[in-house]
Amino acid sequence: MADQDAQSPVGIDPPALPVLRWAEPPEGPALVLLDQTRLPAEEAELVCTDVPALVRAIRTLAVRGAPLLGIAGAYGVALAAARGEDVASAAELLERARPTAVNLGYGVRRAERAYRQAIGKGADPERAAAVALAEARALHWEDAEASGHMACHGLALLDELLPGGGGHRLLTHCNTGALVSGGEGTAFAVVLAAHRGRRLRQLWVDETRPLLQGARLTAYEAARNGMPYSLLTDNAAGSLFAAGEVDAVLIGADRIAADGSVANKVGSYPLAVLAKYHHVPFIVVAPTTTVDLGTADGASIIVEQRPGVEVTELTSPRAGVAGEDAVGLPVAPVGTAAYNPAFDVTPPELITAIVTEEGAVSPVTGVGLAELCARSSQV
Ligand code: MRU
Repeated sequence: MADQDAQSPVGIDPPALPVLRWAEPPEGPALVLLDQTRLPAEEAELVCTDVPALVRAIRTLAVRGAPLLGIAGAYGVALAAARGEDVASAAELLERARPTAVNLGYGVRRAERAYRQAIGKGADPERAAAVALAEARALHWEDAEASGHMACHGLALLDELLPGGGGHRLLTHCNTGALVSGGEGTAFAVVLAAHRGRRLRQLWVDETRPLLQGARLTAYEAARNGMPYSLLTDNAAGSLFAAGEVDAVLIGADRIAADGSVANKVGSYPLAVLAKYHHVPFIVVAPTTTVDLGTADGASIIVEQRPGVEVTELTSPRAGVAGEDAVGLPVAPVGTAAYNPAFDVTPPELITAIVTEEGAVSPVTGVGLAELCARSSQV
């Protein structure tokens, strides 16, 4: 569980430091993050005392992953309100920090709306700031709950799709565990449920170039949880499928369009193509807050383009952001141009199922997805 002030319905073995916590005065008001750019070498906190600091933390991936971006965005609005700043401008800055993960805008707008409504009802700014903070805490808690439900639905689906008794050999990409969530994550929460149920035979962890979220973060979470896992370079996945070593692929999502197209970390789409060719289930696990019914299809999803230096150097995500020193090791001639999209889009016909906290949709259709979302908004 990320926030010290909330209680986890599910968590075991969290990182030694919370992934994200709200600090009251005198330490705060501040949002204190576990700096993910420093993992796995060290667990260090990054204290954001204002919105520009949080925006920078988002851009440098100190805080990252769709659900956690939503939670951080909501706390960011609460931070601006607690500091007596212009909440609408702060919300705009936060929402624009990264374009693809829909949760960021969702969390920001939710806290901002709560603040605005409180002001509209006559609350003074201090009281309205408390309302925005309560909304951020509520989102945080809801995400933890959703994570637990996704783990149950996802494991049930895996057991149905893979009935053999030998245990599941699962492949994952990027990082989708407790580091991206109020709870235990999305796809990784399902892997963890399989592990606890003694049904995880092997976790294959894609390193996830260029910023190595798989190597640095998923391997860290797998190790902490005592999973049987191995790390592979992204381009080794094909030979692993060919050798029959992968029973299912599980990934998260940054934005799911109304037609079921899924934007996720670059490299997800080639995995889906491989999975289709090898008749291996390709499963996306994400909360309904990641579904964007306002985006019609995959082509309409804005894919973030990251600085080329992340490809031309072996470096930290900090290096590409203005004001940060590039400290990477060059792996290409100086001046080499690079193509560096942060995400790619997988069409619904390549996806076996999308698992949410409300259940799974399979085959993936716009109608099925809309039904799941309607169920979540009825609660
Ligand atoms: O660029 P990142 O590290 O923020 O990308 C994260 C991912 O692509 C995750 O797979 C996605 O947010 C799902 S996390 C539950």
